[in-house]
Amino acid sequence: MIKARFIFRCVCLVLTFAFGLCRRASAQAPAAPPLLLGTAWYPEQWPESRWEADLALMQQAGVHMVRVGEFAWSRMEPEEGHYDLDWLDRAITAAGKHNIYTVIGTPTAAPPAWLTQKYPETLRMEQDGQRAQHGNRQQFNWANPKYRDFARKIAEQLAKRFGHNAYVLGWQIDNEYAAVSFDPETKAQFQDWVKARYGTLDNLNARWTTAYWSESYSAWNQIPIQVGYGNPGLLLSWMRFVSDTWRSYQKNQLDVLRANSDAQKFITTNTMGWFDGYDHYTVEQDLDLAAWDDYVGEGHLDPVRNGATHDLTRGFKQKNFWVIETQPGSVNWADINNSLDKGEVRAMAWHDVGHGADAVSYWQWRSALNGQEQYHGTLVGSDGAPVPLYSEVAQVGKEFEKAGPALAGTSVKSEVAILHSYDSRWAIQWQKHNNKYNPQDEIVSYYGPLRAIAQSVDIVPPTATLNHYKLVVAPGLNVLSDAAAKNLIAYVEQGGNLVLGQRTGMKDDDNSLQPQRQPGPLADLLGGRVEQYYALTGPVPIQGTWGTGECPLWAELLSAKDSGTEVLMRYGKSNGWLDGQPAAISRKVGEGRITYIGAWLDPKTMAAAAKWMTEQSGVKPAFGPVPSGVEVSPRYGVHGVVYVLINFADGPQTVKLPGEMTDVLEGGTKRSVTLAKYGVAVVSAAR
Ligand code: GLA
Repeated sequence: MIKARFIFRCVCLVLTFAFGLCRRASAQAPAAPPLLLGTAWYPEQWPESRWEADLALMQQAGVHMVRVGEFAWSRMEPEEGHYDLDWLDRAITAAGKHNIYTVIGTPTAAPPAWLTQKYPETLRMEQDGQRAQHGNRQQFNWANPKYRDFARKIAEQLAKRFGHNAYVLGWQIDNEYAAVSFDPETKAQFQDWVKARYGTLDNLNARWTTAYWSESYSAWNQIPIQVGYGNPGLLLSWMRFVSDTWRSYQKNQLDVLRANSDAQKFITTNTMGWFDGYDHYTVEQDLDLAAWDDYVGEGHLDPVRNGATHDLTRGFKQKNFWVIETQPGSVNWADINNSLDKGEVRAMAWHDVGHGADAVSYWQWRSALNGQEQYHGTLVGSDGAPVPLYSEVAQVGKEFEKAGPALAGTSVKSEVAILHSYDSRWAIQWQKHNNKYNPQDEIVSYYGPLRAIAQSVDIVPPTATLNHYKLVVAPGLNVLSDAAAKNLIAYVEQGGNLVLGQRTGMKDDDNSLQPQRQPGPLADLLGGRVEQYYALTGPVPIQGTWGTGECPLWAELLSAKDSGTEVLMRYGKSNGWLDGQPAAISRKVGEGRITYIGAWLDPKTMAAAAKWMTEQSGVKPAFGPVPSGVEVSPRYGVHGVVYVLINFADGPQTVKLPGEMTDVLEGGTKRSVTLAKYGVAVVSAAR
C-alpha cells in the first residue's frame, strides 16, 4: 500500500515536472532578429485556411514581424463585454511557427458600431457641433471617460491573454493619434486644465493680456476653445491640453498593458513624422520606443527631408526607433499615387536603418478585398500571389538577416543637434507674418547642409541634455521657456557653440512677447539683439563672412551692442531700413560661442554658414568625403562602426572608404565601393 502510494506520488511529481516543462517550452521562443523586416497583417480579414499560405510567403521574404489587431475591435469584442481573442491567439501561434513575431495594436482607433450606437457620447464632436459617424476610423472622443473605460478593458483583455506570449514583442497603442473633440464635456475639461495651470483668473488674465479686445475672464467656464486664430496664450493652452489629453488617453491603456506584460515587451504608438496635432515630447515620455509611419506619397524619396524626419523621431526617445509602417511602392491617398522606382524601396529601407531604425514594416501585406484602401500598395495582390515588388522586399529581408549581427546594439551618435519644439512651430504657424514662412522648412534649411557636412545630426527638444554636442542650432525657436533659456545659457557658458536661427527667442512660455527684444533671455549673452523684423516680398542681397547671396523671405535687422560681438553678415540695398545693417552676429563667451542668424538664407549661403558653424565648433564628418548624391549614415557599437552608404544620384558613384572595411552585405574587405543609382553598401570598421 505504502509502495503503491509512493509510486503514485512519483508519477504525480514526474507529470507535474513534465507539464511544467511543456508550459515553459511553449512560453519560449528564440530571440527575435536584431534588425526586423515586418508587415501589417490583418488575419481577421481572411479565412483562417489562408493564413498558412500568407505566413509561408512572408517567411520566404525574410519577414520576421507582423503588426496585427489595430483595427479589429469588432472581431475582438463582437458584443459588449464578450471577448473573442482565440482567433488572434491562433494567428500569433501560426506566425510563430514561421519565426514571425507579433506586435499587437490595441484596436481603439476603430470602435465597433454597437459601442458608439449605444454610447453616442463616445463619438467625437466637430467644431460645428456635429458628431462623427461610424463607417470610418478615428470617430472616437479621446477625452470621453466612457470611451476610455472601453479602451482600457479591451487593452487589458489583450494584455492578460498575450502579455506573456514569447512571440509577442510589444504593443502599439491605438493608431496615429490625431482627431480631437469639441464637445461641451471636453470644453469643461479644458477649462479645468487651464485653472490647474494658471491657478487664478487674475494670473490668467495677466499672462494672456486679456485686457486686449475685452477678452478678460471673470469665471473659468467663460474660457472658449480657439484653434487657428485667437489669443496666442489661449491657442497654446488648447494645444497643450490636447497633448496632455493624448498622454492620459494613452496612459489609460499603457498602465494595463504594462501591468499584465513581461517587462521586455515594448509599448509604442505610431506617429506621423512632422505632424503637429499634439506635442510628441509630452506623449512619448511614457513610451518605450518611438515608431513612425514613413510614407513618401507622391514623387520620390527626398533623403534630406525624410532623413530629418527619422532624426526627429529618433529624438523623441533619443534612441533607435522603428519605421512601423512604410509604403510598399505606392500609397492610395496622394494626388498622384506613383510607385517608387525599382530599387528605391530597398534604398529607402536602408536609409531608414542608417538613421537608426531597427525595424522596417510595410503597410500592408495584402489589400482587403473591400474597404477604403483597396488601391494602396501591398506585397501580395488580391489573388494572394506576390506583386513585382515582393522580390525587392525579399532582398531587403535577406540583407537584414545578414546585416543584423553587425548592426545589433549599434546606434546613432551625432556631434550636432538641432533644437525643435512644437510650441514654437505652432506659434509661428498661427502668426506666420509671411505666408511662405514654414517653420519645418526653416529647420530643414539648416538640417540639410549640416547633415551633409557632419553626416549625422540629432533633432532634440530645447530642454534636452546638450553637453555632449559640439554644435547646437536652434532655428525658429520662437517660444523659449525659462527652463530652455537656462539650458542654452549653461551650454554656452560651459563651452558649447550655439547658433540661433531667425525668429528665435521672441515669445515666453505663455506665447506672450518677451519683454526684451529677440532673442529675449539670450540677448545679454549675445551682446546684441533684433531691432526689427521684416517680412519680404522679394529677395534682399546679403554679404559677409559666408560670401554673397540672398535672403528670400524674412530679414531681421540686428544690432551688436557688445564690443565683443562681431557682425558676420550684412544686408545689401533693399528697403532702406535693412541697407547695410547686420544680418548675422556672433560673440565668443569663454570657450563657447553664441551666434544669431536673422536672415532666412538661400541654400548656397546656408551651406557656407553651415561650413563656418562646423569649423568654429570642431565638428568633423563622421565618415569623410562622399560623392554628391551619396548618403552616408554611421551607427556605432562597442565593437566598431557600421556605415550605410546609399547612392541617390542619377548615375553610378564610387565611394572611397577611409580605410579597409568589411563589406557586410557582400562579404570580404573593401577599400572602395561603386554604387549604381539606389545602390546600397553596408560597411563596417572595428574600433
Ligand atoms: C496610415 C495608417 C494605416 C494606413 C496607411 C495607408 O499610416 O496607419 O492604417 O491607412 O496610412 O497609407
